[in-house]
Amino acid sequence: MDMLYITGLHKRFGDKEVLNGLNLTVPEHSIFGFIGKNGAGKTTTMKAVLGLLKTDAGEIVVNGEKVVYGQTSTNRYIGYLPDVPEFYSFMTAPEYLRFCGEVTGMKKSENENRCRELLELVGLGDETHRIKGFSRGMKQRLGIAQALLNHPKLLILDEPTSALDPVGRKEILDILMAVREQTTVLFSTHILSDIERICTDVAFLNNGVVGVQGKLSEIKTKYRSKEYLVETEREADLLILQKTFPNMQQTGRNQLIFHESHYTIFDMLCFVTEKHISIVKIERTEPTLESLFMEVARK
Ligand SMILES: Nc1ncnc2c1ncn2[C@@H]1O[C@H](COP(=O)(O)OP(=O)(O)O)[C@@H](O)[C@H]1O
Ligand SMILES: [Mg+2]
Repeated sequence: MDMLYITGLHKRFGDKEVLNGLNLTVPEHSIFGFIGKNGAGKTTTMKAVLGLLKTDAGEIVVNGEKVVYGQTSTNRYIGYLPDVPEFYSFMTAPEYLRFCGEVTGMKKSENENRCRELLELVGLGDETHRIKGFSRGMKQRLGIAQALLNHPKLLILDEPTSALDPVGRKEILDILMAVREQTTVLFSTHILSDIERICTDVAFLNNGVVGVQGKLSEIKTKYRSKEYLVETEREADLLILQKTFPNMQQTGRNQLIFHESHYTIFDMLCFVTEKHISIVKIERTEPTLESLFMEVARK
């Protein structure tokens, strides 16, 4: 089942059309990366999903239930971490989390257990300091614990890693991987390496619409490169190859690239076998997310 389904979403601020018929489908138990440059409309989309923003047209369905602006009934399925989370900084992490549980009406013993479990999960189990002394990464981790309190079916995080250093980012990404079995994770980012690291599915937001979306592996296959890379063990072999296959281009030390419109992989394999050329690797070059993103952004 799809946990989130958006069709034809439109939103304008004044005369600026930010969302221009956005369609998005987030499958259950995916880790979904919502990619777009600054100002693309990621936060706007998330706020619309939360029913916090009045949209101009379109439909949003969460866990099979339609989202209605101003009515937050679908939010019982959602845990949300905003881009800049705010806390009561005079409290400690356990105090704050317990307070949040109480506010939502959780039973005392259940609240205790849930808070302990979540603080453990986000690596704040032994943390006794007040939140005001927390690093950004610690605050983000506490925010994730808070968002998970009520066992959401959909966890929405707005750029959870953008302001963090590589260590802090890895900690967040590890937590998101760990919670995948319990929930569906949708997070926005412009950091492509984070997507590459953990996402099962992605969507590229550009010019108010989702340009490309789907399983990361399928997208990579679809936009599969038509180029092959050959790396030889000896430099001398490079020259032999280039002599026979003049349309190969050198791209690095002992590395050549050829396009399948010029030669087939079978030509190449036959030749290197026949001539006893020692090959370190021969592979189809993988499209990078960056090159995909650039392609989508050009449209
Ligand atoms: N309340 C608002 N009033 C006017 N313009 C807004 C408002 N919120 C967002 N915008 C504009 O909408 C565009 C998309 O913003 P946003 O959704 O925050 O982008 P992102 O989260 O992808 O960086 C930006 O150009 C931003 O300036
Ligand atoms: Mg934003």
